[in-house]
Amino acid sequence: MVHPLFPGSFDPPTLGHLDLCRRGLRLFGRLTVAVAENAGKHPLFTLQERLDLLERCLGGLEGLSITSFRGLVVDHARAHGHDILLRGLRDTQDFEYEYRMALTNRELAPEIETLFLMPSLEYTFTSSSLMKEILACGGDVSAFLPPEVLEVLRDRNDRT
Ligand code: PNS
Repeated sequence: MVHPLFPGSFDPPTLGHLDLCRRGLRLFGRLTVAVAENAGKHPLFTLQERLDLLERCLGGLEGLSITSFRGLVVDHARAHGHDILLRGLRDTQDFEYEYRMALTNRELAPEIETLFLMPSLEYTFTSSSLMKEILACGGDVSAFLPPEVLEVLRDRNDRT
């Protein structure tokens, strides 16, 4: 049985990520979202915060589980019996990065396939890194992020 894993940084989870999770779930009936412990040099959210946010956004969906991993994604996939890595593909810029990553992962673990899904058109230009840039400049991200994430960001602002 197909057991897909959707790995990513999710710093923060965007509406595009949620859209992809729903598409993956609809296709496979189950999906595990795996948060990479290392989310780059300047993570906006800690690992625990990212896990909590995903839980708040997606917790009610049947067949969906949320976990974290460190090290190689293919090692985590192997250790937990995942045969598919699910990734989102928004545009050609994504394609170049994702293509290299998929082929490298296939070299490392030939039995695991990478599968790409395209998000809904309205989310094709949404990315976590753009969100961080807008937030750092005090801009409005409410059109791009789930209400659960916006709430946490508001709480944070109120405390500072
Ligand atoms: O959401 P992101 O930041 O695009 O996700 C990238 C991620 C976390 C899936 C990727 O960087 C990853 O798999 N990191 C774990 C380390 C690893 O396996 N690297 C080799 C990839 S070829």
